[in-house]
Amino acid sequence: MTFNSARFIVSNTDYRKCPPADKPEYAFIGRSNVGKSSLINMLTNHKNLAKTSRKPGKTQLINHFLVNDKWYLVDLPGYGWAQVSKSQKAQWQKMIKDYLRYRSNLVLIFVLIDARHTPQTIDMDFIKWLGENQIPLALVLTKADKVSRNKIHSHRAAVEKRLQEDWEELPEIFLTSALQKTGKEEISQFIQSTSKNFYGI
Ligand code: GTP
Ligand code: MG
Repeated sequence: MTFNSARFIVSNTDYRKCPPADKPEYAFIGRSNVGKSSLINMLTNHKNLAKTSRKPGKTQLINHFLVNDKWYLVDLPGYGWAQVSKSQKAQWQKMIKDYLRYRSNLVLIFVLIDARHTPQTIDMDFIKWLGENQIPLALVLTKADKVSRNKIHSHRAAVEKRLQEDWEELPEIFLTSALQKTGKEEISQFIQSTSKNFYGI
């Protein structure tokens, strides 16, 4: 399964201004710099469709990309970025949480965690909030090229253990490298299959 066309549609600060909710939608979230925008580029075979940067805080809006004229992929700002004011942080948080709660065509959100680290409190808190709001999620361990197989294995086990404290059923967990294109086929397939029952696609 390949995503053979992808184009930028619009950036917004408000979910109410997003494109008509007429296609299944998948969003990407995680700490700043975890690789959300790079993952969207990897999935869509583009170098610079979603803007990336070595500095955290690059993505600041709700960005819609249309893929194969069938799905929306949405690049969101990161959480946990220290370099913004308290009021700016609160504003982003409201923008993201309103979008996640009220966007009617959102099928699922991918929560990205850096495979080099064990899960941080901020990630677990966010995942818990998704559960409380009944927003379906899948996890993505990113930057797999930067870490040994052993470490990946132990970090994945740590994530699963933390999740088992609150969740009866574990979410899907993907391992990715935007550099080596790891996980591309698995995530593309997953998007295709989970959207099947959505609007009859
Ligand atoms: P914000 O928009 O600031 O929240 O960040 P983001 O999560 O969108 O991260 P972005 O995709 O901009 O990537 C941040 C940095 O990590 C960039 O320098 C990327 O090149 C790098 N990066 C992202 N994914 C990978 C990966 O899989 N492997 C490696 N080695 N580097 C990666
Ligand atoms: Mg980004």
